[in-house]
Amino acid sequence: SLAMRQDILDLLENLPEEIKKLIKAGQRVADSLGYSVFIIGGFVRDLLLLNPTQDLDFVVEGNGHAFAQALYQELNRGQLTLHDSFGTARIEFPNGTHLDVASTRWEYYEFPGALPQVEESRLRDDLFRRDFTINAMALAINSDRYGELVDYYGGLRDLKQGEIRFLHHLSFIEDPTRILRAVRFAERYRFRLSKETQEGVATALKAGVLHKLSTERFTQEFLLILREKQYARMGQSLIELGVMEEWFGERLPWNFTRIPENENLTSEEKWLISVSLFNQQQINSALSLKLSREMKREALKFKEIQAALLAESSLNLSIMDQHLSGVSRNIRIALRYDPALEQSMNNYEQAVEQLKLEINGFALRKLGISEGPEIGRILKEIRWAWLEQKIHTPAEEKQLMLQLTEQRRK
Ligand code: CTP
Repeated sequence: SLAMRQDILDLLENLPEEIKKLIKAGQRVADSLGYSVFIIGGFVRDLLLLNPTQDLDFVVEGNGHAFAQALYQELNRGQLTLHDSFGTARIEFPNGTHLDVASTRWEYYEFPGALPQVEESRLRDDLFRRDFTINAMALAINSDRYGELVDYYGGLRDLKQGEIRFLHHLSFIEDPTRILRAVRFAERYRFRLSKETQEGVATALKAGVLHKLSTERFTQEFLLILREKQYARMGQSLIELGVMEEWFGERLPWNFTRIPENENLTSEEKWLISVSLFNQQQINSALSLKLSREMKREALKFKEIQAALLAESSLNLSIMDQHLSGVSRNIRIALRYDPALEQSMNNYEQAVEQLKLEINGFALRKLGISEGPEIGRILKEIRWAWLEQKIHTPAEEKQLMLQLTEQRRK
């Protein structure tokens, strides 16, 4: 409706200048080439959710490469890559954002005998091949249609009622990663799956579609989940749907619940926390060939250090330091989320943060200790003396250093 269009124009008007400039440039190029051009997919969804994102996807009813090249010249910045197969292109900007261009026409190049199709029905087909109604809306940017929402499948309605709805019944069979995407979008926006979509997931899982996925594809999708703020809820939802058991081949003690949502954790940290309740054998058997080797390797490293710490009868700071110095930050952070280690880890991190040795290898060499492992050992002893509060001042540190070097020289 017209009112709707005005709302969208307001939303567009309120976008950050940077993005408005990109859209306006797209409009000039679209008009001058005489192509109908639309913004499509996630950007439209997030704009309507009042949560605008950076990455633009343009769909062009015309030659995608020609549009991308002209837009690139118009913008005069970033880096243009043309992908020859599908008439798609990408412009990457120095700030890490990018803009994608696709054409509704490419598939018809491949079949010279195919019936000519009117432009609008190509856009409709393009949208129909997408995952969910909320991702299948397009926004016209040509000056005569600027801000017009193209919504054949009820995307706006579903945004309003908070539903993730597939576009057709083969959606999950054709592309099983959409099962994980459904969970990701649902939990991200606190939406639910429509009844049919839920049934579609169940049917697809029962048919074993996940096993059509390669390890890389599953890993990729799983990592997207770990990058999300609400990843714990997403993980929980994957368990409830039976995705985890189906993919990993057994019921595992995933730790998706203990983690506060607003904690700023990296996806690596979240990964390690997720497997912190696994035993060694579960990591070895369940993770092999199911996720990237890197993820398994990290999990094993984490397990090894966790087990070593838990095996100590008392965890004083210098013993902890023996296990933890040189260990990656990801692992140290994740260890804090093991209830059995939480207290000790917090104490340790605090102590290490305050630790500032005045002495370095250079000073030791001046005192006649020759280059080699000996220097490292002395520095460690001084470090541990600080941690165990055997020394408290730089003067005491120096005293200890002299004592240790004296002993070594004898
Ligand atoms: N898409 C799809 N099926 C997939 C992946 C993507 O139909 N398996 C479509 C959706 O229309 C989606 C668009 O391609 O909107 C772009 O995909 P992507 O960049 O992965 O997702 P976004 O919707 O932009 O989501 P995010 O906010 O997670 O980036």
